[in-house]
Amino acid sequence: MRIVRYTEARRQEWFDILKEADSSFYNPERAEQETWTIDSLKNDLIGYDHEDMLIAVAARNKYSSLGSQIYKSYVRPPYRRKGIGTMLTALCESDMRGEGARWIWTQVDASNFANLKLKLRMGYHVVKVERIDCGHQWVQLCKEL
Ligand SMILES: CC(C)(COP(=O)(O)OP(=O)(O)OC[C@H]1O[C@@H](n2cnc3c(N)ncnc32)[C@H](O)[C@@H]1OP(=O)(O)O)[C@@H](O)C(=O)NCCC(=O)NCCS
Repeated sequence: MRIVRYTEARRQEWFDILKEADSSFYNPERAEQETWTIDSLKNDLIGYDHEDMLIAVAARNKYSSLGSQIYKSYVRPPYRRKGIGTMLTALCESDMRGEGARWIWTQVDASNFANLKLKLRMGYHVVKVERIDCGHQWVQLCKEL
């Protein structure tokens, strides 16, 4: 397994794993409404590759000069519960720290127990819980780097 970043040569692969990520936690209709394009995300993508196949991806946003956001994180199902999600989050954190960020935040669907547990285990604190659309609850989490 190795850390990989976006390259034009693998554009389609990055696009495919991001679409897969969206449809795994949104319904397909809503996933279609996502507004990202591969060009808007490409400089912020990081992932893991195993035997030349992308198996995990994270996207991040620079939020301000001091803070950044983990915008997406996704591990393909056969590779879950092996610590890859934890490593991916740690990788985002070290990248952001290297860019001068002092804190990191992320928003997790309240029903996403796996991701919530992972983030709490990694030292994230709940900032607020928001009810947005259709009774959906989102938990905002923050960690000082
Ligand atoms: C959330 C996600 C990224 C976790 O990736 P992962 O590689 O399985 O995570 P890890 O192996 O590092 O898990 C670390 C800890 O998180 C918790 N955890 C992870 N998945 C869990 C699950 N399905 N149920 C309960 N706890 C879970 C556990 O505490 C786990 O430690 P343990 O295995 O020692 O018990 C992965 O499940 C995923 O891609 N889900 C779909 C996409 C998603 O929801 N992304 C986040 C929103 S952007």
